[in-house]
Amino acid sequence: MARRRIIAGNWKMNMTPSQAVELCATLKDLVKNDAVDVVYCVPAIDIVPVAEAIKGTNVNLGAENFYIEDKGAFTGEISAPMLKDAGVKYIIIGHSERRDIFGENDILINQKVKKAFASGLTPILCCGESLALREAGTYTEWIKRQISWDLEGVTADQVKELVIAYEPIWAIGTGKTATADQAQEVCKLIRDHIAEMYDAATAEAVRIQYGGSMNAAELLSKPDIDGGLIGGASLKADFGQIVNA
Ligand code: 13P
Repeated sequence: MARRRIIAGNWKMNMTPSQAVELCATLKDLVKNDAVDVVYCVPAIDIVPVAEAIKGTNVNLGAENFYIEDKGAFTGEISAPMLKDAGVKYIIIGHSERRDIFGENDILINQKVKKAFASGLTPILCCGESLALREAGTYTEWIKRQISWDLEGVTADQVKELVIAYEPIWAIGTGKTATADQAQEVCKLIRDHIAEMYDAATAEAVRIQYGGSMNAAELLSKPDIDGGLIGGASLKADFGQIVNA
């Protein structure tokens, strides 16, 4: 069965609520494509206005972060039930910026993946290596280990619904894109690793995106790349070109 392409924007810490609504209006006609799952992953404060702005369109709503408890004394955090109630469908987990700047480790990331599934949210689980690991040649072991840790206790049926984003850290926001062959190598490695951890049917079903200064067409032509997680270019009309690449 062919996997459905998924193109997601990661807005990161950009767009005030009013700018967010404007961007939705700008992109509305540019991202129309019923053959692709289109997702905007937006800052917490933009979730409610963006949910309203994308009503009646093909765009799905995503969030960038949450905490693993449902409610309580966790100042500054938002919960999975809050996201769900606001209309969020996808949730980015394990982005390298959260790992590196905010100190999220694989134990927490694994808890978040399980909590997201338990709450009816679809994780976009990010993995990827630093430039040092790429140059040392140990990146394949690193990525397999991230996937094993982050999916500990996650069922095959859940992994069939999962989205994994391969984002080499050295390509994020740098204008340095992995070549299509480099990206394909790692996306295939991830799929093969899922086959080892689970089974062939699960590996066949899981959707794997590339992210990092993405230039879409060539990367999307590769057999194991099912879409993209887009940072900077998701804030402009360029995002429409990637959706329709
Ligand atoms: P850029 O597309 O800006 O390189 O960001 C990629 C990214 O981190 C998406 O999550």
